[in-house]
Amino acid sequence: MKLGLCMEGMEDYIEQVIRRPRKELNYLEIGVAYGETLGGLSKVISAMEIDDWMTIGIDPQHELLQIRFFEGLKIISHADSGQNPEPRSVNHYPYPIEECVWIANATMPMHVVLIDGCHSRKCATDNFLTVEPLVPVGGTVMFHDYGERNAGQNQPHCNALVDVTSAVEDLGLMDGKRPGWSAPDMVHGDSSILAVFNRI
Ligand SMILES: C[S@@+](CC[C@H](N)C(=O)[O-])C[C@H]1O[C@@H](n2cnc3c(N)ncnc32)[C@H](O)[C@@H]1O
Repeated sequence: MKLGLCMEGMEDYIEQVIRRPRKELNYLEIGVAYGETLGGLSKVISAMEIDDWMTIGIDPQHELLQIRFFEGLKIISHADSGQNPEPRSVNHYPYPIEECVWIANATMPMHVVLIDGCHSRKCATDNFLTVEPLVPVGGTVMFHDYGERNAGQNQPHCNALVDVTSAVEDLGLMDGKRPGWSAPDMVHGDSSILAVFNRI
C-alpha cells in the first residue's frame, strides 16, 4: 500500500492499526494535502468486512486534493462545516479543523486519528485536545513528524515553528502522566517519525 507525504516505511504499521478487529471503524485525518494517505486507507477500510465505517479528512488547502486517490470510493465534500460525516463514505472538510463546527459537537467515536495538519506546538496540542474525547478505549492517535527532522521550519498556518515533539510532551503523553493513554510507540519511517498512543 502506498501512502502520502513522508509516510514511506510506516505503511505496514499503519495498516496493522487499521486492520485491528473492530465492529465499527471511523478514521480521521487532520491535514490531508493531496489525499494519498486518506485515499489509501479509505480503500483498505471500505474493503474490510465492517458495515459501520467512515473516513474523514480535514484540510483548508482543498485545491490540493487529487481525486485519482479516491477511485471507487464515494467522496463527499462538505460545504457546510456543521454537517456531520456520512457513513460508508470518505468525508472531506475543506476548512481548518478549528472551523469544523461538527467536530466541536461530535459524539461519534474516532477509532484511528492521524494528526498531520499544522505542526506547531499549539496546533498539534489543540488537535489532540479536540479529538481526545472522541477516542474510545482501543482507539489510536498518531502524531506525524515527531522529532527533530523539521524542527525550526515555519508553519504558515499560524506562523510558528514546527514542534510536534513539545506538543506531545506538554500533553503528558511521553512520560505516561496523561491518564488513559498508553506509553508511546515510536515508528521510524524512512524520513519521519510517527508517535503513536493507544487509549487504554
Ligand atoms: C504534511 S501535510 C498532510 C499530509 C497527509 N496527511 C499525507 O499523508 O499525505 C499537512 C497539511 O495540513 C494542512 N493544515 C494546516 N493547517 C491545518 C489546520 N488548521 N487544519 C487542518 N489541516 C491543516 C495543510 O494545508 C497541509 O495540506
